[in-house]
Amino acid sequence: MQGLRVVDLGCGFGWFCRWARETTPDPAVAYARRDLEKLDFDDGAFEVAYSSLVLHYIENLRDLFGQVHRGLVPGGRFVFSVEHPMYTAPGKPGWTRDPDNRLAWPVNRYADEGARSTDWLAKGVIKQHRTLASYVNLLIETGFTLSRLEEWCSSAEQIAAHPDWAGTEERPSFLLVSAQR
Ligand SMILES: C[S@@+](CC[C@H](N)C(=O)[O-])C[C@H]1O[C@@H](n2cnc3c(N)ncnc32)[C@H](O)[C@@H]1O
Repeated sequence: MQGLRVVDLGCGFGWFCRWARETTPDPAVAYARRDLEKLDFDDGAFEVAYSSLVLHYIENLRDLFGQVHRGLVPGGRFVFSVEHPMYTAPGKPGWTRDPDNRLAWPVNRYADEGARSTDWLAKGVIKQHRTLASYVNLLIETGFTLSRLEEWCSSAEQIAAHPDWAGTEERPSFLLVSAQR
């Protein structure tokens, strides 16, 4: 990563940026408050675009992917995670407990894309549900080459360490994507 220009889209508290700041002698981290729906990057402004658990809040993902493509140098990397479509899909959103007290997340109308209201930290948080195919096809249509895709599920070891995660091994929680311009 040394010497690379990296943009962290939707950094939140800035964990990823601060790791960078703490582990490099050059504190070359700049923070900007921007609406990701209205970005206007310069051509070839960075080598890596990264985003952790943000893009499922974005309504116009086609425009944002276009901006990221434009902002990356040729060969630049776009690495992001989103809540897995299995989790953004439910028609009746929200974690529930099954009779064995295992976490369950009802999944309905997977193919019906668009806004979903969920109660997560606050009531009525709006997330945008997209199918896995839509994420991939949008990348391809924007001109990205898909490098790797992971559907993260908790492992048996993690369930053993966090028994309250029981149920999260049954379906993927996160979609992790690496693409290249
Ligand atoms: C779940 S947090 C993830 C934060 C951080 N990336 C992390 O992994 O810790 C989602 C973040 O997306 C940001 N976000 C959502 N919609 C946004 C938008 N339209 N423009 C900019 N940031 C947005 C929120 O402000 C929030 O910080």
